[in-house]
Amino acid sequence: MTPPRLVPVPKIGNRSDDELLRRAQEFYEVMQQRRTIRDFSDRAVPREMIEHCIHAAGTAPSGANLQPWHFVAVSDPAVKHEIRIAAEKEEKEFYEHRALEALAPLGTDSRKPFLETAPWLIAVFAQPFRILADGTRSPTYYAIESVGIATGILVTALHSCGLVSLTHTPSPMGFLNRILGRPSYEKPFVLLVVGHPAENALVPDIGRKSLGEICSFRSNA
Ligand SMILES: Cc1cc2nc3c(=O)[nH]c(=O)nc-3n(C[C@H](O)[C@H](O)[C@H](O)COP(=O)(O)O)c2cc1C
Repeated sequence: MTPPRLVPVPKIGNRSDDELLRRAQEFYEVMQQRRTIRDFSDRAVPREMIEHCIHAAGTAPSGANLQPWHFVAVSDPAVKHEIRIAAEKEEKEFYEHRALEALAPLGTDSRKPFLETAPWLIAVFAQPFRILADGTRSPTYYAIESVGIATGILVTALHSCGLVSLTHTPSPMGFLNRILGRPSYEKPFVLLVVGHPAENALVPDIGRKSLGEICSFRSNA
């Protein structure tokens, strides 16, 4: 086997612990402000902003570096309309027959006007398989974990540049392959709705678990 070609680690500077701590606190405070938005304004968002955020998502670590993701960014009103019609059909079925009690505090229902109001929809696809040069299908590694991390970076990137998003998962989402022309071996992962909040948008008054609830340490520090 040929040895791997190695290059120096990208320089991020030699920061003091105080500086690192300050940055960690600041980052938490920025992320604490992130909320899922379901009431969007129709204010346009330049395509270049979306490109940067998706580019950032593509920096995610992935199993064996196979980068098993594809993002389709949609601003075409006709395509957004088609997605809304298909998503509302699935959501109607879901809310009539399968809706979870856990959804009650969110006040969501089968109507999804934001799929047309918001300037961008980003459909995230996972690639559990890839097509090799000889045309055969080969499994990727940890596709779902990898795409989950990439989507987290995408949501974080959108939030850090001042946009808002909704992680939407109309179930099932197979219609996205058909409408967006993606191959059947790709699995729709989430549909992110992206833009700016409507002027008087409200969000559910829900809490986040404390650090003690989500984390335990085995440490002597
Ligand atoms: C994988 C995933 C799927 C979700 N699907 C939906 C959805 O279909 N519709 C919706 O309104 N919110 C959806 N959400 C948003 C959650 O309801 C929201 O993140 C949660 O209530 C916490 O609120 P916050 O994001 O404002 O902190 C989803 C979130 C995740 C991570």
